[in-house]
Amino acid sequence: VAAAVADGPLKGKHILVTSGPTHEPIDPVRYIANRSSGAQGTAIARALSALGAQVTFVTGPASVPPPDGVRVVKVESAAEMLAAVREALPADAGVFAAAVADWRVTGASDQKIKKGTDGLPALELAENPDILAQVSQLSDARPGLVVGFAAETQDVIAHASAKRLRKGCDWIVANDVSPATGIMGGTENAVTLISDAGAEEWPRMSKDEVARKLAVRIAEALQ
Ligand code: CTP
Ligand code: CA
Repeated sequence: VAAAVADGPLKGKHILVTSGPTHEPIDPVRYIANRSSGAQGTAIARALSALGAQVTFVTGPASVPPPDGVRVVKVESAAEMLAAVREALPADAGVFAAAVADWRVTGASDQKIKKGTDGLPALELAENPDILAQVSQLSDARPGLVVGFAAETQDVIAHASAKRLRKGCDWIVANDVSPATGIMGGTENAVTLISDAGAEEWPRMSKDEVARKLAVRIAEALQ
């Protein structure tokens, strides 16, 4: 079924969305991951598409299926996500909802590591490239509007505001991912939108509603 391009305020705009966790290989059968389901990023891509945007959806191994009607680029690791993002530019806006692994395993084995031969394996980690910061600081292909997320478990607004300035993105969608909130892996989200204009707390609502509200804001900003 060919989805008709929705007519809407984002018609003619190309928007890049990253979503899902990344998997960082240890060996061919093992990896380091995180609890992101990809639900919020997927909902955002769907909402932008519904407003008429042409969406490139760069997704790690998520537990929810990608939306229909968007260009899907599947990746595993942070390094692959960065390459796919660079490839997808230029874009009018970028929304970086992925829970990118902060570290990768250096010297991942190309054979399955066997137990009991050499004692316990020692995993050495290296920091992954910061995709959001790199795109925010591009001189040539920076999208006109760059939106990041900030997953925090304490001092949410302070940490998220500092992140926005450090990375150089325009907006940060801050959320509290403490286990008690049930947000990570759940269907609801409680976010604060932080921009030059300050911090705007949104009431707790479904991830789909957060996505629709954010898509409307993006459409207004790109007018
Ligand atoms: N991000 C990214 N590339 C990374 C790490 C994070 O693009 N290697 C993006 C995320 O997609 C998100 C934002 O940066 O939009 C913030 O991610 P978060 O994990 O909250 O921040 P970090 O800078 O990684 O800091 P920390 O995890 O230490 O709080
Ligand atoms: Ca992180």
